[in-house]
Amino acid sequence: MKPEARNFGLELVRATEAAALAAGAWMGKGNIVTPDAEAANAMYDVLNSVEMEGYVLLGEERKTGEESPLATGRRVGTGDGPKMDVVADPIDGRKLVAQGLPGALSFAAIAPYGTMWRPRPAVYMEKLIVNHEAASVLVPECLDAPAAWTLALIARAKGKQVGDLVVFVLDRPRHHDLIAEIRSAGAHIMLRSDGDVAGAILAALADDRVDVLMGIGGVVEGTLAACAVRAMGGGMLGRLAPQTKAEYEAVTAAGLDLKRVFTCADIVQSDDVYFAATGITDGPLLDGVVYSRHVRHTHSLVLRGVSRTRREIRTEHWSEFFEKRLC
Ligand code: FBP
Repeated sequence: MKPEARNFGLELVRATEAAALAAGAWMGKGNIVTPDAEAANAMYDVLNSVEMEGYVLLGEERKTGEESPLATGRRVGTGDGPKMDVVADPIDGRKLVAQGLPGALSFAAIAPYGTMWRPRPAVYMEKLIVNHEAASVLVPECLDAPAAWTLALIARAKGKQVGDLVVFVLDRPRHHDLIAEIRSAGAHIMLRSDGDVAGAILAALADDRVDVLMGIGGVVEGTLAACAVRAMGGGMLGRLAPQTKAEYEAVTAAGLDLKRVFTCADIVQSDDVYFAATGITDGPLLDGVVYSRHVRHTHSLVLRGVSRTRREIRTEHWSEFFEKRLC
């Protein structure tokens, strides 16, 4: 098979499906740690069967502090295929799963080894994300300018009024001033408690349900978002934004530049990028896992950078019991 004929996204989606199925079994049970561990194990098992020599870029241990098969630097894949950077988040929205709330998803992305940025040990970053219509108006100044200025640029590019724009923002105290600025500019806010990768994808889609994502979220989530945004031809600006003294010191000691504004092409430097997402609980992007008596249903998204294809996949996963009866 020619390398360009292979769509790794169709292999990655089996990993996000496995993680979503493992996580979904814990929906609403009040547990944050165990579902994440089980989803990470399920994702690892599938990633390990993919013909590649993959290396986890930013691992799970960074948020859980626990041992994980998806820890930074871990090798995944059979070792037979191309060398790849791997970034994964078995559950984005761990609290949403624990509380049975909408919007939790599982994500994984890969690109050729060495093409993704390496912002270790950063944890947080600022993000500004739009779709292809407004990508060309994003300039580094947007991250420091008043929100009204940036929103006016985006509105003009999209042929809309600022008052018609919908801005995705995580509901966090650190966004108090940003939220006030967006509201005084007249735009709508889609305020969500968690899940800014989904917000990034919604902002990068052409369907206009969300026009912009603004604010500070995780670096792993920002890297995943950059993979998706690049694969969809959207626009993104990002900048490290340490939230504690310890993070600030670690980031500066590592020589990372806190002033540099990155585009999604800086964060993932290849069009040969593959991205998969599967819903865990229902949300505006994907439906959550549905468990019937003998079959479980998943809803997924697969993106491929070189072709800009975007697939939605609905899968039936038959239980072992039923598989045995069929035989
Ligand atoms: P987790 O599932 O890892 O808890 O992440 C959820 C999330 O909302 C991300 O989508 C977002 O990038 C990050 O948390 C923001 O971090 P914090 O909750 O510390 O503000």
